[in-house]
Amino acid sequence: MHRRNRTNSVLVSIAGATPQVAGRRELSDGDWWRDAVVYQIYVRSFADGNGDGVGDLPGVISRLEYLRSLDIDAIWLTPFYPSPLVDGGYDVADYRNVEPRFGTLEDFDTLVAECHRLGLRIIVDIVANHTSDQHPWFQEALRSGPNSPARDRYIFRDGRGAHSDLPPTDWNSWFSASAWERVEDGQWYLHLFDRTQPDLNWDHADVQANLERTLRFWSDRGVDGFRVDAAHGLAKDLSPLRDDGGRYPFRRHELVDGTHPVYDRDEVHEIFRRWRRVLNEYDPPRAAVAEAVEGPRRNLYARADELGQSFTFNLLGLGWDVDTWRHTVTSCVEEARAAGTTCTWVLSNHDVMRHMTRLALPDGTDLDVWKLNEGRDPLPDLELGSRRARALTLLMLALPGSAYLYQGEELGLPEVPDLPRELLDNPTWDRSGHTRVGTDGARVPIPWTPHGPSYGFSSVPGWLPQPASFAALSVAAQDGCPDSTLNFYRTALTSRRRLNVDEQFTPSESVEGVLAFSRGNGWENWTNFSEQGVSLPPAHVLLSSAPLRDGVLPPATTVWLRRQR
Ligand code: BGC
Repeated sequence: MHRRNRTNSVLVSIAGATPQVAGRRELSDGDWWRDAVVYQIYVRSFADGNGDGVGDLPGVISRLEYLRSLDIDAIWLTPFYPSPLVDGGYDVADYRNVEPRFGTLEDFDTLVAECHRLGLRIIVDIVANHTSDQHPWFQEALRSGPNSPARDRYIFRDGRGAHSDLPPTDWNSWFSASAWERVEDGQWYLHLFDRTQPDLNWDHADVQANLERTLRFWSDRGVDGFRVDAAHGLAKDLSPLRDDGGRYPFRRHELVDGTHPVYDRDEVHEIFRRWRRVLNEYDPPRAAVAEAVEGPRRNLYARADELGQSFTFNLLGLGWDVDTWRHTVTSCVEEARAAGTTCTWVLSNHDVMRHMTRLALPDGTDLDVWKLNEGRDPLPDLELGSRRARALTLLMLALPGSAYLYQGEELGLPEVPDLPRELLDNPTWDRSGHTRVGTDGARVPIPWTPHGPSYGFSSVPGWLPQPASFAALSVAAQDGCPDSTLNFYRTALTSRRRLNVDEQFTPSESVEGVLAFSRGNGWENWTNFSEQGVSLPPAHVLLSSAPLRDGVLPPATTVWLRRQR
């Protein structure tokens, strides 16, 4: 598929250093992901095609023209495979089919064909760390009893204590409480996530072969790439079993040397080298992006003989502070360049509080993003959040590399903090004994129209209710309004496509409170983090996130400009 045809040079400079040319290359079809804008579709909440209140693949197909109007490069679908949906589909019961509530394989094939006809690429999710407990392998393991070959595809162990009634280790699961669950015959199985998501044993040949079959199955159907869920968890060393003092998963930044029993182990890379050989059987090779660790070790997953790219989650936890932003973007760009890859920027996704709400939290809030969506009342100042969100979106889109957008951010949707408790449907809520509300506030269905039982999402109320404020934020309400957030995103994305001709990135001498850098062809990004207006140099303004007045960049505003010489 040829949507773009241009020459890319890879040139990166870092603050205080002479720009270094890292080589020139053609951006071939196989490299499309290096600077792609990818739109994340949380299938359950995007658009409902069959009137059951749950989003589905026909719903996505019906909205493809809208997606094309955003000028994105690709869509990423969160899991749509057969699943009890305990974790929204990240609990897969069959890797090579479609959950009936989401449609059929024929719908999927239509979706791929339609995407490609419209010049959009498609990425699907691969959940390889665990299956659902409803997967036939796990059901067989339960039936077969201790020490059976069927149990060996998972991680079953005897417990500790005189009656084996204590879990084998003190490890915690991601969604709260122990990472071990006891079965009827007394053995325990490991689950780093929910207890309905048993971890696979990646030393087992069946597990490896099955996943390679899955990669081929979806690649043969035409998908362009894969998002690899929990990539850092696949390799485990359980002999001998060791406690970790409760460090995993929430103190995982301490586990940076490749030797933790279940987290970011060095052997995990051998798995991805095998996957890369499969992905390279295709022309163009299938792309892959790892959801992996947050520190510089993320780029190990992005090596050319592994997945190619690894999410740069670093922007998620940053407060409103220019020095932190400058340091973070500069070091991430430099680390990715050194590893031969590009950054994969993210401001929001289905696991974290939406950024327009997050950016309005009072100064001093603990911004551990993975724990933020705990519900907050009253809501923070959304006007401030909206202004900052626009400014940082423009900043993100000015950076070299690729950017992942999360459905609804282009409408300026806030986090919904006050969902009825009886409707919450995520594992954090359940496993924390209903003390942590979890992620549903970022997963409320998209409003398409200002009226109707779910604002055009479905012909009936959606699986989560939308607040009345969603009417004015709906696509139809914003579509024809030039100043809307939706049209701001469209303009920004189209401008980016024109301006982002290479990977050059040069931080500028700093004006106090401003993050400024220039890109190839000499255009510049200026973001004002300070509380005062900042005078701009004589320049042609390409785009700004809020109106400028008399050559002054107001607080919480980003401008793209080209200097007059
Ligand atoms: C996904 C989550 C999911 C978890 C377990 C993640 O990182 O993004 O939504 O709960 O993996 O599969």
